[in-house]
Amino acid sequence: MTYDRFHTAARSPLPQRLFAEAFGSEWVPGVEATSSFGWWLAGNLVGSLRLPPEGTLVDLGCGRGGPGLWLARAFSCRLVGVDFSAVAVADATDRAPSFGVPASFHQVAFDNLGLPTGSADAAFSVDAIYFAPDHAAAFAEVHRVLRPGAPFAFTARDTTADWPAVLAEAGLTLESATPHPGTGDRWLRLFDLWDANEQALRGEIGDEATNDLLEESATRSRLDGSTYHLYLTRR
Ligand SMILES: C[S@@+](CC[C@H](N)C(=O)[O-])C[C@H]1O[C@@H](n2cnc3c(N)ncnc32)[C@H](O)[C@@H]1O
Repeated sequence: MTYDRFHTAARSPLPQRLFAEAFGSEWVPGVEATSSFGWWLAGNLVGSLRLPPEGTLVDLGCGRGGPGLWLARAFSCRLVGVDFSAVAVADATDRAPSFGVPASFHQVAFDNLGLPTGSADAAFSVDAIYFAPDHAAAFAEVHRVLRPGAPFAFTARDTTADWPAVLAEAGLTLESATPHPGTGDRWLRLFDLWDANEQALRGEIGDEATNDLLEESATRSRLDGSTYHLYLTRR
């Protein structure tokens, strides 16, 4: 899968409708997330990050921008989004005015964010930072851009890494690890919907993007024995 192809497909109505159907009452209208972001996460991130209106929020792996823009609007704060996909950054930039918050988006990788040291009053990453090829480098960058005492929240499956060790190495204090209820089941519902709508997806987003989704679905057993968590940390 290439993320540019994934995000191009994610603009399309059918993939969005299938996400919404799989998420049910968890789906947050208008966000167009391509992740586990839903009402539970929205509420928990608001409660955890608590930015003041003059603060700067950093969204790592922002995708098409929705979760960060939604949160920045809730806080009336400034948003900086980063992602290595050019399509994601372009879409997020186009969508920002409709959320009415000051926002900028940058095409960079997790191990070299290019943001000033100590410039973030809070940061978060929904289903993204664990894709970094080098966790130590990515979390060291998070530590560098956070101001002292600032929170960083991220979602991940508990089996993806030894998160307490990764965080300790980066100098981030783990404050809580909260299981995210129902997330595994929602992904399994989405995989079933992709499989059931294969022909319609091929017609709407093309063969390559559909094959990417079916491949994700076919490797669903990777979720076995793991639980999605929200990790709250502090510099
Ligand atoms: C599952 S998507 C989540 C997008 C967004 N956070 C959301 O909730 O809709 C993962 C995102 O991480 C980005 N990503 C993956 N690896 C990356 C890396 N090494 N550096 C920067 N971004 C990366 C992808 O381009 C993609 O937008």
